[in-house]
Amino acid sequence: MYQEKIEAIKAAIAAADAQTPDQLEAYRMEFISKKSMVGELFAAMGQIPNEEKRAYGQLVNGVKQLAEEKFQELIEKVNATNKKSKSADIDLTLPPSNQALGGIHPLTATRQRIIEIFERIGFNLSEGPEIEDDWHNFTALNFPENHPAREMQDTFFIEKNPDIALRTHTSSVQVRVMENQKPPIRTLSPGRVYRNEAISARAHCIFHQVEGLYVDENVGFADLKNTLYHFAKEMFGKETKVRFRPSFFPFTEPSAEIDISCLICGGKGCNVCKHSGWVEIGGSGMVDPNVLENCGIDSKKYTGFAFGMGIERIAMLKYQIRDLRLFTENDVRFLRQFRPML
Ligand code: DAH
Repeated sequence: MYQEKIEAIKAAIAAADAQTPDQLEAYRMEFISKKSMVGELFAAMGQIPNEEKRAYGQLVNGVKQLAEEKFQELIEKVNATNKKSKSADIDLTLPPSNQALGGIHPLTATRQRIIEIFERIGFNLSEGPEIEDDWHNFTALNFPENHPAREMQDTFFIEKNPDIALRTHTSSVQVRVMENQKPPIRTLSPGRVYRNEAISARAHCIFHQVEGLYVDENVGFADLKNTLYHFAKEMFGKETKVRFRPSFFPFTEPSAEIDISCLICGGKGCNVCKHSGWVEIGGSGMVDPNVLENCGIDSKKYTGFAFGMGIERIAMLKYQIRDLRLFTENDVRFLRQFRPML
């Protein structure tokens, strides 16, 4: 009877396998522990007739030895496979996974480049609030009382208070700087501005400008021209030409619009420059003496130049972007094109 049972256990031991520590423990419970099949064989000794006890004992010890040998074998096997898989987890020879890298937004990159160019020629940085009062946005800048730019279609006013508005240009920062500092002043003020305009490929109600201001004794129009010549060549390349077109701004006299030669067609004429060979990037001029006086600066002693340029406009020219709306849509297909190359 028991011979058959012992043979069955031997066969089970021979067939047993283990790959993981859990399976090893299951084997131990089945064949080694006191409550295992082999343990039960020992426990059954009492029921064996005396004359057979010796033979039975030999058989059972044989099974026990077999079970233990197999157990050692399985321990080695499980240890070996575990070691293998652990080292596979940290295989340092594998190439790195393709990590998604972000990029710098083209407007940020453009602003940074503009700042860099002007910082190198001695301009510092200044900023002012986006919610501005009439004085800093208009009155101190010599806007007459009935100037159309003050009217509702251009300016976002705050809660029906005609004195507080979202600034329509960064020229307001000029006023704040001149009110708080004495010449010589050489400052650059990049920032966001707001105008109540319909959104299109060429216009937006939120955009960015960079304002420049230089006030000192004997600052002349030649300084303005040379500063902007330098900027255009640094920003767009040595071949770039700059043209000043007479214009009007309440806060500068004389005033000029700044054009650069079209980068897309090299000045030959194309859709972007409307076949003129030139594109406008901003306005400029000599600071009107009234503005200096409004800010507490002696206009007999000091003169200054100022300029204001559109950052979107500059980025569009530099990167050949045809639609202003792309800057704010956050479409990764657009943004991805400005990722650093790996
Ligand atoms: N503030 C003007 C605008 O937004 C641009 C401008 C023109 C700024 C002439 C200046 C300047 O500093 O001198 O259209």
